[in-house]
Amino acid sequence: MAIDPSRGLTVGVLGTGRMARLHIIGLHDLRQAGLEIGGTRYPVTIALYGRDPAKVAALATEFGIEHTSTDLYSFVRDPALDVVDNCLVNSLHYKPLLAAIHADKHVFSDKPLTIAVAEAEHLLAEAERAGVAHGIVQNMRFQGGPTVARELLATRELGRIFHARVTWGYMVPKRVTNRPTWFFKQELAGGGIVHDMMGHFFDLLRHLLEPSCGPIASVYCATGRGFDEREEPDGTPFPVAVEDTCSVVLRFRSGAIGDVFASWIRRKHEEVPFVEIDGEAGSVAFSFNDLRFQSQARTPSFTYDPTRVQAAFGEGWEQIQVHRQDPFALQLRRFLRGIVTGETVKPDWHDAVRNQRLIEAAYRSAAERREIAV
Ligand SMILES: NC(=O)c1ccc[n+]([C@@H]2O[C@H](COP(=O)([O-])OP(=O)(O)OC[C@H]3O[C@@H](n4cnc5c(N)ncnc54)[C@H](O)[C@@H]3O)[C@@H](O)[C@H]2O)c1
Repeated sequence: MAIDPSRGLTVGVLGTGRMARLHIIGLHDLRQAGLEIGGTRYPVTIALYGRDPAKVAALATEFGIEHTSTDLYSFVRDPALDVVDNCLVNSLHYKPLLAAIHADKHVFSDKPLTIAVAEAEHLLAEAERAGVAHGIVQNMRFQGGPTVARELLATRELGRIFHARVTWGYMVPKRVTNRPTWFFKQELAGGGIVHDMMGHFFDLLRHLLEPSCGPIASVYCATGRGFDEREEPDGTPFPVAVEDTCSVVLRFRSGAIGDVFASWIRRKHEEVPFVEIDGEAGSVAFSFNDLRFQSQARTPSFTYDPTRVQAAFGEGWEQIQVHRQDPFALQLRRFLRGIVTGETVKPDWHDAVRNQRLIEAAYRSAAERREIAV
């Protein structure tokens, strides 16, 4: 399906929430700058669906969006759209994306692709059968710190990898005021923090370490729940059946191990996520906006003495500049570019399916209280 340069691409964004706004900002920048490919400028047009007419109107006015709708399924099938970009709650990923594929739209979605792995596998098969481009937001791959870490890993600055650790979390109080409450509702989210955050961290660890350590071979997961009941911002209580804290241990084929601690009931936090990767030749420790490197040659010899004050983190580490970039704008640009050029753009739904298989293995591990081979 060649794209007509005079028409360009029309992207239909689903949703008016937090992520929809970020996607619209990315697309708005792209609309201003234009999608320049091989000397040709392809115009980008934004269309918007939302169930709440007032929110749709407000976003449409703010970003100058002319094509709007409050009818989900007629919108995803609208002949004017080339791309459907799904930013709805997780329970509304599968059916609208399937309808979009069957209407020959290219399909892009925020993570996770679906609630159930079988649904993700079916979407992938249908998208491939229809020959449409498929993409998934894995913004962590494109943030500054992980981008530099991947370069250091690619140039083998760290040598053989021993292990990786991810720490994530902050306090979501019983009355949920700092994130949407649907994340705590099984039927809308599909799971708790394992489904939500391991969709990021399995992907990030695969992206960083698979080239040197091979695929993730096994997963062990323990989960916990701080609140069996939470409250809407207005104080209305609702029951909680999903986990809000987890500890996940994984093994790569090379023997390197990883561990991820993710929690919505953690009080202390740094810039999250915080990632450490240790190798024989060096180590890297980073967040999205800060990255430190220490080579083995420059690693001070540490001896443990309980009577002395120890050096704080940062001493002896080389700070490497990371560039701040909008990962959503970047991913959308790459995806739209791929539609025009016909090139496969990663991450795609093959990645989404692999990440969801790992999430499923983590849930199985938690239920059976044992390590699961993947
Ligand atoms: N990439 C990331 O870092 C990141 C971060 C947060 C969320 N997400 C993902 O982005 C997606 C959206 O999350 P969010 O944080 O923007 O949530 P949000 O609550 O801000 O937005 C959800 C949207 O879904 C709509 N919606 C809910 N129920 C609906 C229904 N029955 N019919 C029609 N519309 C309905 C809401 O009106 C809203 O527009 C989710 O899949 C989530 O997992 C990704």
